[in-house]
Amino acid sequence: MMKRIRQFFHAVFANVAAEDRAFLEEKLNRGQQALFFGMSVPDQCHALRTAQTAISLAGNAEGKVDFPLLTRCALLHDIGRRDGEFGIFWKCFAVLFADLFPSQAQDYGDGAHGDGVLYRKMRVYYHHAEIGAAMLLREGFAAEAEIVRRHHKAPAEDDPPELRILRMADEMN
Ligand SMILES: [Fe+2]
Ligand SMILES: [Fe+2]
Repeated sequence: MMKRIRQFFHAVFANVAAEDRAFLEEKLNRGQQALFFGMSVPDQCHALRTAQTAISLAGNAEGKVDFPLLTRCALLHDIGRRDGEFGIFWKCFAVLFADLFPSQAQDYGDGAHGDGVLYRKMRVYYHHAEIGAAMLLREGFAAEAEIVRRHHKAPAEDDPPELRILRMADEMN
């Protein structure tokens, strides 16, 4: 619950500072920046915090972790939640719906009740990882797409270290 409250206040007071822009320009190419800025400002801020956490969690695992790939994945992991599709109202709604009525919420997200507004919102909530991965693949970023696609999947034996760290950092932000 505390995490939800923290996320809500982060979303309300979000803004991307000048030093964050410099960081983005250093870590992402033009195409990736366009995808990043396609998210709402609160999601951009979440992605920036996730990237900073991921970098510090990776710590001194130099040689075992691909830091540039990890940073790009952290910055881009939620691009499937595009600005205007999933604002703060719908985010709060989706979290409550999914917490209180998980199987009904999942059915809406899977299209079991048609393609109305609840389908579109819950689809983003449940499937933004696959949506974002498809966007990355279309732009030719296959390595990032593979990690982004799996960021909400249950941990597996063959998870690369960048994916494991991204999941932890995402959970903390
Ligand atoms: Fe996500
Ligand atoms: Fe996230």
